[in-house]
Formats: sequence, structure tokens, C-alpha cells
Amino acid sequence: MLASRAMKHPVQVVIFGASGDLSARKLIPALCENALRRAFAAPVQVVGVSRSPLTSEAWREQLYEWLDERQRSVWHELAPNIHYVAADASDATSIEALEATLVELAGPWAAVAGRLYYLALKPTLFAPTIEALSAAGMLQCDPLRDEAWRRVVVEKPFGRDLATAQWLNIVLGKHLREDQIYRIDHYLGKETVQNILAFRFQNAIWEPLWNRQHIETVQINVCESVTVGDRGGYYDTSGALRDMVQNHIMQLLALVAMEAPTSMDAEAVRSEKVKVLRALVPLGAAEDVWQSVVRGQYVGDGAHENSSQNGYLDEAGVPSDSRTETFIAVRAQIHNWRWNGVPFLLRTGKAMRSRYSEIVIRFRAPPADIFGGPQQADVCRLRPNELVIRIQPDEGMRIRFLVKQPGPGAVMRQTSLGFDYSDTFSERSPDAYERLLLDAIEGNATLFIRGDEAEASWRFCDAISAGFVAPDAPSPSPYSVGSTGPHEADALFQGCEGTWSHDDD
Ligand code: BG6
Repeated sequence: MLASRAMKHPVQVVIFGASGDLSARKLIPALCENALRRAFAAPVQVVGVSRSPLTSEAWREQLYEWLDERQRSVWHELAPNIHYVAADASDATSIEALEATLVELAGPWAAVAGRLYYLALKPTLFAPTIEALSAAGMLQCDPLRDEAWRRVVVEKPFGRDLATAQWLNIVLGKHLREDQIYRIDHYLGKETVQNILAFRFQNAIWEPLWNRQHIETVQINVCESVTVGDRGGYYDTSGALRDMVQNHIMQLLALVAMEAPTSMDAEAVRSEKVKVLRALVPLGAAEDVWQSVVRGQYVGDGAHENSSQNGYLDEAGVPSDSRTETFIAVRAQIHNWRWNGVPFLLRTGKAMRSRYSEIVIRFRAPPADIFGGPQQADVCRLRPNELVIRIQPDEGMRIRFLVKQPGPGAVMRQTSLGFDYSDTFSERSPDAYERLLLDAIEGNATLFIRGDEAEASWRFCDAISAGFVAPDAPSPSPYSVGSTGPHEADALFQGCEGTWSHDDD
């Protein structure tokens, strides 16, 4: 086994909400991948907790179904250490019984085993579960000893607005130190997202350009082709702003816009991110919201029986008069020395033409066009350079620039220099949960959200949702399933060159 990692003692990973989707789809496959890479330097035991009456054997069978061939090849090593306990996470008696089971399962190393409690629960159960764990003494650990640690991973959504996030932070803070709390945002575990900081701060050439003098706009697109499918009930209480902008897009923005941290230490990185989030100009007054925000809702074309062509209002669990947005575009501003005046154009939506996430940094055009006269053809025109950071799929980066086409005259052609993960690396990129689970086990919180970051991000988003519920708020603009979203979003580019990036650009 690889022993180079920080983990010295056995670990129990206790997953609350174990019978839900996340364990089978993400968490257990991530543990298998880590086991395959021999990333665990000490034994790991997994204990799933849920109210459903299941045996460990039955749970293992369910989990196995979701594994791919590679992951199945280590299953025989992991399976004996995977257990299931039927318990109500918010009930004190159940939790005490769980503690007895955990001690029994840990056997000889009960006194030194670290514990990671993973709350893959409905958000309403976060606080009662923490309170029950605390009352049973299951969160106590000695900060001066590195064994028998206790940490809690909290899944999203972390609150539904600033007030509920603040309240949740207070509840967590009553029972845990901040360094025991791991608020997850799976985008931070993506290789391409981690690479934003490496790209910016391990290369000296970008920093002199990375500011308002040289950058005209920053675009962050997280487009999805999936519809809400069978998640209508949840989605209708959330919408694109809460589901995607408050967490994933705000994190991408913070990584692109933050100052260089002094190190990759969790406090150093997160302190820089929170400064940027706090510098976002609130779209406070209701009239400002609609100058800077466009929301949309997908509509079916009525021509297909196939449910993937349903409009949002036809989805199961969605009220027929719902005004929940399935698309949102925001023009944000960051009020600091580096970024003042540079629009940050943020866009996300379901049921769009294709699935792609990318960040486009558009640089300012050269101050004079020495090749072009007044009659120049379109092909000669200046086009600003762009840096495209492709998060998914076809992960990589690309710089677009103009060159002269061979031949008479001065016909310009746009070309690019690129880096593709698939060409450069032969190894597979780990799934986000693989990295995040390992980091939480090892006590590295750099890729998790600190409480003040979550609050700063909600503060910005709350101002937008206040606009949504105002009596004179316009209805979401309709857009067809499989389109690029409502055309109203193009107006957010007012006063600057360019438009939203497309997958085939
Ligand atoms: C989740 C959202 O957090 O992220 C989903 O709740 C969304 O609605 C998903 O589909 C997107 O994640 P990814 O990794 O597929 O881009």
C-alpha cells in the first residue's frame, strides 16, 4: 500500500442517507477507485446509515450493480469492510445504538480510528443529525492528537438563502470547530477546476495580463443538455440560481478572480476566495436585477411523445404555473482594483443544445488596427484574443489569436494554441468525489467551502432572488428544449464586444 499520504490511522466513513443515489453513484465508486490506486495508507471501513430496513449483504449487492469493471476488480477487498446500519440519523436512541455498532465494528482500533461522517441527507436533516451526534458524544475529539479525529462532510445545498446558511453555520459551529466541517461542492474536485489555480499561479506570463487593463470580459458557462427529469419536485424549490449559481458558478468565479494565495493551505486559499465573493456588487435594487439578470424556462415543442422533449411545466413534480427558472444568465461586477468595470457574464441552464462548461477570458483588442483600412474585408478585422478554459467535456485550454494567411494582402485567420488533457495525459482523471473523499479523510480542506464563503455567495444570490419574487417580476423567458437558451440573454453583453460562447466555437 502507498504510505506516502497523510492518513496514518484506520478510518470509518459513516454515510448518512446511505440508501440514496449518491452512495451508489458516486461515493462507493470513488472509494473503489482510491482503493485501486492504493491511495489509502490505512484500513477504511464504510458504514452506511439509513432508515430503510436493509441488511449489509443487500446494500452491498445494490452498490455492486453501479460499479464498472475496474471498480469491481477491487470489490473483494472492500466488500468485507462495507456495512449497513438501519437507523434514524436524527433520533437520539438510534444514534446511541449506532455508536455502539461503530465501536464494535472498529474492534481493536476503536480508540484510534478517525471518523468521517458524510451527510448525504435531505438538508432539513443536517441540523438534527449534528445535534444527535453531538449529544451522543460522537463529534468529540482532541485537536492536539491526530488520531481519532471527527469530521463532517455536508452535502449541498448549504441553506436556501443567506439566513438559512447563517443558521446552519451557527448550528454546526455549536458542535464542531470550523476545521472539522467540510462543505462540499463537487466542482472543486474536478481536475480542470483545480487546474485554474495551477494555470494562473504556476506560470508567470498570465499575471501581468490578468486584470481590467487587459481583460474585457469573463464568461462562465455551465450548460447542460439534461432536463430536470425525475428531479422536478426538488428542482422546483431550487431553480438554476440556487442549484448551480450559488455554488458551482460562484466557486468558478472566485478561482478565476481571486488574488494569489500565499500557499495552497486551506485557510490561505479560502481567505482569498471569500474576498472576491464579498467584492461582488449586489444587484440590490429590484430594477437593477432585470438589467443584469435574465431567467428562462424550457418549453417542449409539443411534437414528441418522448418525455425528454417535455417542457419544464410538463415534468413530474412541477406545478403547472411554476415560475422557477431552468436557465439564468447574470452580468456580475467585482468591485476591486483588479476587476472594476469588467463584466463577469455567468450562464447556466438545463435542456440546452449541448452539455459543456467553459470559462472564456476575452482580452482587449489591440489599440490600433495597422493592417486594416476603412475598406477592409471582414476576414481582416481585428478580433480580440481569447483564452478558453474548458471544464468539461473535451477538457483542456485554448488561446485564440490572429495570424496572417499566406498570400498577397493581409488576410487574417483566427487560429489557436491548445492543450488537451486527452493528448497530454494517458492516465484517467479522477472523478471529483474520488479526490474530495480522499482529501476529507486526510484532513485537507482546501477544496471545500468555508462557512463565510457560503454566506458571501448567498448574499449575492439573495439579491437576485429578491428580484424574482417582486410583484412586477417578469416571467421567465421561454426557450426551446435543445436550444441555446432565451435570446434575451444576449442583451447582457450590451456595451462590450462578443456574445455567449457556443459549444462549436
Ligand atoms: C448538481 C446539480 O450540483 O450539479 C445538478 O444539483 C447538476 O442539477 C449537476 O446537473 C451538474 O454537475 P456536473 O458534474 O454533471 O456538471
